[in-house]
Amino acid sequence: MLWLSPSKINPFSPLTKLSFLNPNLMKGLLSIFLVTIFSLCYFSIFPPFKLRINCPECNQTYNIHTYNDEEIEIEIKTKTNISHILFGIAGSSETWSQRRHYCELWWKPNVTRGYVWLGEEPRKEAKPWPKTSPPYKVSSDTARFKYTSSYGSRSAVRIARIVKESFELGFDDVRWFVMGDDDTVFFTENLLNVLRKYDYREMYYIGGQSESVEQDVIHSYTMGYGGGGFAISYPLAKELVRILDGCIDRYSELYGSDQKIGGCMMEIGVDIRGSPYGLLSAHPLAPLVSLHHLDYVQPLFPGMDRVASVKMLISAYKSDPSRTLQQSFCYDLTRNWSVSVSWGYTAQLYPYLVTGKDLNTPFQTFLTWRSWSQEPFAFNTRVMSLDPCERPIIYYFDGVKEVGNETTLTSYKRPKNRQMKQCDRRTYGAAYSMKGFNVSAPIFDPQIWKKAPRRQCCEIINGSDERDGMVQVRIRGCNQWESVTLP
Ligand SMILES: *[C@@H]1O[C@H](CO)[C@@H](O)[C@H](O)[C@H]1NC(C)=O
Ligand SMILES: *[C@@H]1O[C@H](CO)[C@@H](O)[C@H](O)[C@H]1NC(C)=O
Ligand SMILES: *[C@@H]1O[C@H](CO)[C@@H](O)[C@H](O)[C@H]1NC(C)=O
Ligand SMILES: *[C@@H]1O[C@H](CO)[C@@H](O)[C@H](O)[C@H]1NC(C)=O
Ligand SMILES: *[C@@H]1O[C@H](CO)[C@@H](O)[C@H](O)[C@H]1NC(C)=O
Ligand SMILES: *[C@@H]1O[C@H](CO)[C@@H](O)[C@H](O)[C@H]1NC(C)=O
Ligand SMILES: *[C@@H]1O[C@H](CO)[C@@H](O)[C@H](O)[C@H]1NC(C)=O
Repeated sequence: MLWLSPSKINPFSPLTKLSFLNPNLMKGLLSIFLVTIFSLCYFSIFPPFKLRINCPECNQTYNIHTYNDEEIEIEIKTKTNISHILFGIAGSSETWSQRRHYCELWWKPNVTRGYVWLGEEPRKEAKPWPKTSPPYKVSSDTARFKYTSSYGSRSAVRIARIVKESFELGFDDVRWFVMGDDDTVFFTENLLNVLRKYDYREMYYIGGQSESVEQDVIHSYTMGYGGGGFAISYPLAKELVRILDGCIDRYSELYGSDQKIGGCMMEIGVDIRGSPYGLLSAHPLAPLVSLHHLDYVQPLFPGMDRVASVKMLISAYKSDPSRTLQQSFCYDLTRNWSVSVSWGYTAQLYPYLVTGKDLNTPFQTFLTWRSWSQEPFAFNTRVMSLDPCERPIIYYFDGVKEVGNETTLTSYKRPKNRQMKQCDRRTYGAAYSMKGFNVSAPIFDPQIWKKAPRRQCCEIINGSDERDGMVQVRIRGCNQWESVTLP
């Protein structure tokens, strides 16, 4: 990631400073910046595997944040576990009844610690407060603070202060404060693996910046940094809490809560770790840490509602957290097939040979990525060619089995009842006869994230299952010197 590596970004550089002071200038500069990042990234040694999930049956894209950072070796006596995190979830009483379904997918009552913070007492329909939801707190009044952004909402002030109010609860043994929105789904195993890379006794600010600076999602952390959540180590939180209220007034013209927090962080002189501009949340090989803004996009799986879709993904995640959404690709040269598997989500079959570079960026959503739109997530992601002869055949995750020897078997099926035009080329005919995929994979060792991770190799096995219309794929570590290269 060349000059983007976090340690090399100077928090006091003019660009960064401007970006917090002048949204319009920022817009222009950052557009250029984004393009640069993208091209740098594109040609860097790690081809950018998009963890933005394409939703080929629809016209939107999921926003998936991952984290990637330089390796930090630390010796800590007790491993950071879920009890060491205090979550602060930005909620609102208007939307909670719907949004709680996202929280409840990952929240473990009496295990995860934290609160959802509301602007006012919950409404009647939210009472009695469900035991399966995170407990709530009502944020303290923010009328005394200045908020001078000409657009946006004062709730940004309330949300920026969640970290302070969480800190002031004075809980014991908190190492990290993790902030997210009420529609953020955290993958806590992977989150822990990311946090364990850092020494919680130092000041750390970890997050994937959001791609948009002007979301209209008013009660949201989305601004600037952390729709997908961000984490602040205890010592940093302590420092932040001291000056936060002052920052909120000093940065009263900034629209979003994260920008206000970001302004404060600059005063403290701490820089964000993680992937600048969320775009690099597209890092090829990084664990899935959170999904968010699920309410603004189409369901992940065709024919399922949003919550059921996330549940589906979580069912894969439970069997192998670190592998979730990791991509592998391989070829069957006897038939000129290319296969790409995003574990736990989708398998794609191309009845022709596609280079690794193209498989890695199959639908080029970045190029159409309207980061600067006022509308939330109006990403123009007509991700697939309309020509059926230029599209892969797409299969969706359908189930997972653990089959012993630390191996999982996932299956992927073609969605039913799709009135999709089919390509009538002969090569496609053979491919269409494949109803699904069976993919076996060793359970991914999370320690691999601490090393320089490498995409795993796979192979297509033309076994007896093919007679039943199932393509068999085996994912495995690559052999030494092996690369996924076409002849
Ligand atoms: C794409 O989005 C537009 C506008 O939201 C909608 O009318 C249309 O049905 C969508 N198309 C698909 C394939 O989902
Ligand atoms: C997390 O670690 C602490 C020790 O720091 C321990 O007391 C606690 O029980 C652990 N929690 C879980 C859920 O393992
Ligand atoms: C959580 O703990 C409290 C008291 O310790 C108990 O009353 C409650 O039923 C527990 N909730 C769940 C979901 O286990
Ligand atoms: C695979 O593609 C190569 C090069 O395009 C071609 O020469 C070969 O005949 C193809 N093989 C099959 C089985 O279609
Ligand atoms: C189990 O996995 C190990 C290492 O991956 C392999 O050497 C061994 O042959 C496997 N055993 C079976 C029964 O598949
Ligand atoms: C492949 O998947 C099908 C359907 O999920 C299943 O019936 C079959 O047993 C699987 N094959 C193997 C080798 O596990
Ligand atoms: C793959 O298996 C199918 C069915 O067993 C067979 O018809 C086909 O010829 C095989 N293809 C290759 C390239 O071995």
